Amino acid sequence: MPHNIRFEPVSASRLSEVDFNNIPFGRKFSDHIFVVDFDGENWVDPRIVPYANFSISPANMALHYGQSIFEGMKASKNQDGVPCLMRPEMHVKRLNSSAKRMCMPELPESLFLEGLTKLIGIDSEWIPTVQGATLYIRPLMFATEEHVGVAVSKTYTFVIMTCPVGPYYTKPVRLLVEQHYVRAAIGGVGEAKTAGNYGASLYPAQMAKEKGYDQVMWMDAKEFKYIQEAGTMNLVFVIDGVVVTPLADGAILKGITLNSFLHILKAKNIPCEQRHITIDELVEAYKSGKLTEAFGAGTAAVVSHVSEITYNDFTMVLPPVSERKIGNMLYNEINGLRNGAVEDIYGWVVPVKKSALAIV
Ligand code: COI
Repeated sequence: MPHNIRFEPVSASRLSEVDFNNIPFGRKFSDHIFVVDFDGENWVDPRIVPYANFSISPANMALHYGQSIFEGMKASKNQDGVPCLMRPEMHVKRLNSSAKRMCMPELPESLFLEGLTKLIGIDSEWIPTVQGATLYIRPLMFATEEHVGVAVSKTYTFVIMTCPVGPYYTKPVRLLVEQHYVRAAIGGVGEAKTAGNYGASLYPAQMAKEKGYDQVMWMDAKEFKYIQEAGTMNLVFVIDGVVVTPLADGAILKGITLNSFLHILKAKNIPCEQRHITIDELVEAYKSGKLTEAFGAGTAAVVSHVSEITYNDFTMVLPPVSERKIGNMLYNEINGLRNGAVEDIYGWVVPVKKSALAIV
């Protein structure tokens, strides 16, 4: 049954303020947002309203104790100009598993999908059509109860906002292997897409930036031996022709883009393994000339090639991007699926049909 989503349109669109040929990541927000509140028992008053500030109590529990989770998705237009989403049901499932870990209420999948579809339909003019740009979608849920006591909030707000974006990284990234700070330990919240994981990453990432790196490569919290992820993206290596990515063992985000890449590789009979990888194995592979590619995978990052990895005082300089067969192929495949240039043999692409856009 359709949800009763009310719609309050903007009085004047801000679309003309966007220079689609030069879009920084995450700075310009589309006209409308989808919002729904959890009143302690039910999700109530689903609405699509103008993008605007919220009024939040200083005692808002999300601000104090971190009950805040999010997702990252993208919409693009296919060659007929129809807005398309990619694997939206995977995102709502991951949102709900983050919600469970953070003691937050699950959102009905049908409400997520209907709110998202309607929002994308209403703001479809915000979907960039220039090469390399897309509409980034940020679903977000946060606690709203006023209470300065460590406890589970009774009330929440769920929002979907969107923004036209260019590439997250505009050039290949330099990574520093982190050997003191940790992102997440098994048993912690590393697998949840929750704000605290990103907050915890900022100081080590800032220190790495001061040394000229773009990101840190996180190691396991116990032995600093096993590679985890890069914080903004999962990590993928090509070693001796085999695509290898760290096993999501409870401390790593289960990347949906990474999952798509593994399916694409399988469909193309390219060997790939999801397993523990030690930093020593990586160094050894590099020294013997077997490490031919390294890249980050994520919704925002898409495929972000890694140019250098520094471990202690040893820097591994990876081959030029033009020689990266696997990373470039995956980049073209995922973008081709998004814009319809590549046939969707996986059933991932969800066109936003005109009939789905009617506001009740
Ligand atoms: C995404 O890839 O969508 C993310 O949420 C990562 C974020 C750091 C931009």
